[in-house]
Amino acid sequence: MFKYREVPNPMKNKTKRSNEVKKFLILTIILGCWITAIKAQEKDISEIKSGVHWLDSKGERINAHGGCVIFHQGIYYWYGEEKVKGLSEKEHADGGIHCYASKNLVDWHDQGLVLNLDRQDTTSDLSFDCNQDRPKVVYNSKTKEFVLFFKLYLRQKGNAVAYVGVATSDSPSGPFEYKHKFLGGNSPNGTGDFAMFKDDNGDLYHLTVRKPDKAFVIGKMREDYLLPEGLYQVGDGITKNTEAPAIFKRNGIYHMLASGSTGWAPNAARYFTSQSLLGSWKYEGNPCLGENPNNNFGPEKTYGGQSTYVVKVEGLKDAYIAFFDINKPDHPYDNLYIWLPINFINDRISITWKDSWNLDYFKKQ
Ligand code: DGJ
Repeated sequence: MFKYREVPNPMKNKTKRSNEVKKFLILTIILGCWITAIKAQEKDISEIKSGVHWLDSKGERINAHGGCVIFHQGIYYWYGEEKVKGLSEKEHADGGIHCYASKNLVDWHDQGLVLNLDRQDTTSDLSFDCNQDRPKVVYNSKTKEFVLFFKLYLRQKGNAVAYVGVATSDSPSGPFEYKHKFLGGNSPNGTGDFAMFKDDNGDLYHLTVRKPDKAFVIGKMREDYLLPEGLYQVGDGITKNTEAPAIFKRNGIYHMLASGSTGWAPNAARYFTSQSLLGSWKYEGNPCLGENPNNNFGPEKTYGGQSTYVVKVEGLKDAYIAFFDINKPDHPYDNLYIWLPINFINDRISITWKDSWNLDYFKKQ
């Protein structure tokens, strides 16, 4: 049978070759895009972004509000209020104290609840609908204990009286054991928002707003940190109604970032400095600059946030991060975090909004 002879077609070979080249190019482009995406992701991981939700190493939302960050043996620990999804602040959204751990302040690993509420006993101080605000943890190198303090409103007792709750643990990742509560400020109504500042010699101070007169007071804690040592004194120079204090010390100067008193609503940040923790303090105005593009709030509303803590970055000179919370009292599970680098001009701080930044910022200073 006649078989049609296949004539070699030079064009066919050309097409084959050009198809191979095409395939190679497409693969190269895909590979390039993939590498770029991975790099961007890696870069993203090391970026600190404010005013957006933060995810932990498992991709879950970080749920640690009004908190603090301490450094112990190479690891940072972030403690904050767990907010129960679906509950408003009025419905007592606090669900215990949550802890996360990180080696680089960016990748956070969930350590779970380190202090639980009591879901059974309604007479317990930590009964499920108490309010546990603004947890702060301090290491006592004499007792080798981690001491956790929080502002405590008892169940069904309103907010005229606020206690300081105290819990301890021999490990930074807990569990913490609830010890007792005390009324600070030598006031029968106790105290509200607070900072615990550990000075260079290990002395611990409770800096807080006194109830009901809203004077800002400072008291030294006992050596074991578990109770105030004696009398508090009014912080000379600190404006009344100062809340949300966050304190750090640099070159012998104490810096205090704080807010006014408008409940959960944002107001303008206020900033004070002093040569001595007990005062007198000097009012230095509002250190914030710039605007949060997510809500268009600038310095007059602290980007929609309220100060919480100042994080010291270990191993870098003059590296401090101003930590604010954006409160959403109707659905606090959706609260957001703001972390911004602190700048120094001589001995005064300034804070400028940044959508995204990373710790290299401190190396370029
Ligand atoms: C203002 C405080 O700064 C917050 O932490 C919270 O306690 C609210 N007051 C409650 O109104």
